[in-house]
Formats: sequence, structure tokens, C-alpha cells
Amino acid sequence: MAISAAAATLVVMKIHPDAQLGHQQFLPGTAASMFASPRPRAARPTRLCVVGAGYVGLTAAACLAEAGHTVTCLEADPGRLALLKAGRIPIVEPGLAEMVARSRQAGGLRFTDEVEEAIEGTGYALLCVGTPPGIDGKPDLRQIGDTARQLAAAARSDLVLIVKSTVPPGSCEALEILAADAAGPDVRVPVVSNPEFLRESRAVADFFAPDRIVVGADDPELGRDVAALYPAGCPILVCDRRSAELVKYAANTFLAVKISFANEVAGLCERLGADAGRVLEGVGLDARIGAAFLGPGLGFGGSCLPKDLSGFLATAASVGYEAPLAAAARAVNGSAQEAVLAKLELALDGVRGRRLAVLGLAFKPGTDDTRDSPAVALVRSLAARGGVLSTCDPLGRCRELPADVFSDPYRAARGAEGLVVATGWPEFAQLDPVRLRAEMAGTVLVDAAGVLRGQGWREAGFSLYGVGWGLPSSLHPVVWPPITWALPAAGGLSAA
Ligand SMILES: NC(=O)c1ccc[n+]([C@@H]2O[C@H](COP(=O)([O-])OP(=O)(O)OC[C@H]3O[C@@H](n4cnc5c(N)ncnc54)[C@H](O)[C@@H]3O)[C@@H](O)[C@H]2O)c1
Repeated sequence: MAISAAAATLVVMKIHPDAQLGHQQFLPGTAASMFASPRPRAARPTRLCVVGAGYVGLTAAACLAEAGHTVTCLEADPGRLALLKAGRIPIVEPGLAEMVARSRQAGGLRFTDEVEEAIEGTGYALLCVGTPPGIDGKPDLRQIGDTARQLAAAARSDLVLIVKSTVPPGSCEALEILAADAAGPDVRVPVVSNPEFLRESRAVADFFAPDRIVVGADDPELGRDVAALYPAGCPILVCDRRSAELVKYAANTFLAVKISFANEVAGLCERLGADAGRVLEGVGLDARIGAAFLGPGLGFGGSCLPKDLSGFLATAASVGYEAPLAAAARAVNGSAQEAVLAKLELALDGVRGRRLAVLGLAFKPGTDDTRDSPAVALVRSLAARGGVLSTCDPLGRCRELPADVFSDPYRAARGAEGLVVATGWPEFAQLDPVRLRAEMAGTVLVDAAGVLRGQGWREAGFSLYGVGWGLPSSLHPVVWPPITWALPAAGGLSAA
């Protein structure tokens, strides 16, 4: 398992010379090179096993095969496996289907549900199975525990388990104990943390041009070894396992805090008659802050941010540490949804019995993923309050939705008294106000995604409300008592 000299020169990292568990120095790499064509290759092509063919696993399997490795992807779900073996993929990700097809044809990627077949001839298994939230908000680690046991029990020679799934700090150590119990005599199954940071809808691009790859290993040589599996040029941080695990939780918690802060500013803007779009644009233009994740709206959702924020809080609680900032981000997120509901209730004088349209189901544009989507939660809340719902999403689908689902947004809007844009798809930004007005029975439009600005909506007869903008100015209270804008002789401002 020793790293080759070539890989060592290609991988951009530095290891603290004298620390087994030391925090390692991070050096930026040449991310731009990741966009080069042909795609960057792994320095040392090898045989790999990837477990789980979801957003993370299928992307990793296809991209690692594209980078030159020979990959066997182990998938337990019979429906998913049948689809993959038939040459189709179970998720929507730009470029992924083509890449899977190419690698399968070239013999670099195959799918199986047989553990022994998946790990035959390989020293590495990348674990990309789900770690969903349990009922108490703590992560449910049963899938990954089972996976570690199965792989260890089937291993006939040393096998490194590389945990890409998001897990609470300490998990890799626990998995290593589980794996050691299950493994046969003379078989070593060390566990390395390698959290995944891909963004759905740009997963392939993120794989080849990541902001960073984090590898947590208590044996630095093993860490370097795992880092060398990735294409040359990726910026890599190697550290101890608990730190690597916490990087993932902390990064997603920070993004959640940023979104909640944007929603808090938006709420203040509504009360001041300021425009949250401009305010947050102005804030985000500060290079120290950045514009990403500063959009107000229905709040954060998806399969990662809410779950990882809860995991962060559960981890803190488990060691008796209070994390009030993270807790506040979660509370503010709940209020974001409530604020949109309240707007609609106010504008329509109640939603019971009213026909309503919600445009968007996916948790963000560009993906088919509706897991923990704020848009879906909005549909359910409105239905629970007695609204009669119709909805539309270009890709997202959801089972047992209390709404009629249409493929055409104008059809979904037909007869609606109020409409909410819940997901910021470009398709919704291009809607024609006059045509939409002709379809709808009412005029209330709530743009929770911030995509309908400045397009003649009011001219078409709509009352348009945004998040942090669009309330009539008569609603804005006078905030300060009148003051004299002149310095009195004694100095300081005085109230009139
Ligand atoms: N989706 C994302 O954007 C994203 C980003 C970064 C990290 N993550 C993390 O990565 C992990 C996976 O996320 P995902 O969205 O890909 O999940 P997913 O639910 O889409 O995919 C998991 C897959 O693993 C399979 N699986 C479970 N147990 C198995 C086993 N024992 N053997 C073989 N296959 C098995 C499931 O059938 C499923 O297909 C999670 O921990 C998640 O938090 C996700």
C-alpha cells in the first residue's frame, strides 16, 4: 500500500512530519487543470470497489473509472441494480449517464450485488451508502455499519475502507472496530475518512475540479495512499480522522448558517422597506463573504444540509457542548417556511378551500432530488391547511404528494387563486406574465425563489411578493422617532 514516487509528486499536500494525529498543512492545487480535456488521470490506476450507486457512489464510480481505475460498484437495491445493468442510471446528473456508458463499454466499470465479486482483486472500498437522519435527529448509521461488516467478512486480504458517506466524528474509529471483529484472521481492514463535498447538479464537474479533497487517516502513509487514488492536481488536505469527519459537518453547518442569515436579513428588509436582493448582493460582493448561499427564500433543504446540521448539533450534545449558532440556524430555517405561508395566508385572506399552485418540487434547480425539499414541505403544509394544490417540476418527482402534478407550469397554474414559485428553475424565470395571468383565477404571486423580478408581473395585474422585497410600502413602519439632524452646541444628537 505504499504510495508511488510519481503519485507523491503529483498529489498536492504536505504531511506534518512528526505527528501521527497532527493537523496537516493545506496547499491549494491547480483546480483549473481539472477542466482540461482529456480528463485528468489517476497517477496510479488500480482496481477499486465503490459501495452504493446513489448520487455520491455512482458519481465516484464513474469518475474514478474515467480517471483510469477499474471500478466495481456494489449496489444492494435490486431495482437500482437492474436499471444500471440495463444501461440506465437512477439519478439525474449532467454528464453522468454518458460517462457511465463510456466506462462500461471500455470495461472500466461494472455493477454487482455480490460482495465477494465487488472486492475481488482490490485493496480499497469506497463507502458511499446513505446515512439518513434518525427520528431523534441523530444520524442513522446502520447502512454503513452493515456495509463495513459485510466487506470485512468477505475480504480475503487487506482491504482499506474509505468512508465517503457523511458520518459523525468518531465513526471511522468505531467502524474499524466493527470491521476488525468481522474480518478473518490475518486480514487488516483499516478505515480512512474521505468526506464527499459534491453538489448535486454539478457532481461530475465537482469531482474533477473539487475545492478540496479531505483525507483523514491516523497513519499518514495510508492517507497519502488514499489521496493518490484521485486525479493529479486536486487540492488535498490530509489530517486525522475525527478532524476530517468534522470538516464535512462544519462546512455544511456554515452553509446552513449563511442561508439562515440571509433569511434573517430578508425579514428585516421587509420591515424596513429595503430590498433584500440588493442588500445581500451588496453583502456578497465582499470577497471575504462571497455571494454563494446568501439567497433568501424557503430556507435550506435537500438530503445534506438539514441532516448534517442536525448531526453537528447531536455531536455537540453528545459531548456536552452547546452550539447556539447552529441551533439558531435551524430555528430560523423553520421560520423561513412559516413566513412564506403567512404571506400567502395574508394575501388570500386564508388558504382553506383555495386553489393554489406551487411551482417546484426539487430542493434546488438542476436536480431531481426532492429529499427534505422545502418546496415539498410547502405543498404539504398548504394542503394540511385546506388548500387545493397543483404543482409542477421539470425533474423532481415525489410519492404521495397531496397535489395534482403537471408537466406544464401553465397547466399547474390553471384556476389557481395564488401561486408560489418554490424552486428557482430557469424555466419558471421565463414564464410569460400575460399568459400566466390568463390561466389563473387570482392575482397573488409569491416568489420564494427570487426568479420573477422585473418582468412585467405587476403590469400584468399580479400582486407580487418576494422574500425580503415586494411588500407595499404602506406596510413599513417608521422605525426611528423624529430626530434633529444637527449637532446641538453640547455635542451629540438629540431627540426632537
Ligand atoms: N447527495 C449528496 O449531494 C451528497 C453530497 C455529499 C455527501 N453525501 C453523503 O454521501 C452519502 C450517500 O449519499 P447519497 O445521496 O449518494 O445516498 P443515496 O441514498 O442516493 O445512495 C446510497 C446508495 O447506497 C445503497 N446501499 C446501501 N447499503 C448498501 C450496501 N450494504 N451495499 C450496497 N449498496 C448499499 C443504496 O441502495 C443506495 O443506492 C450520505 O452519507 C450523504 O450524506 C451526499
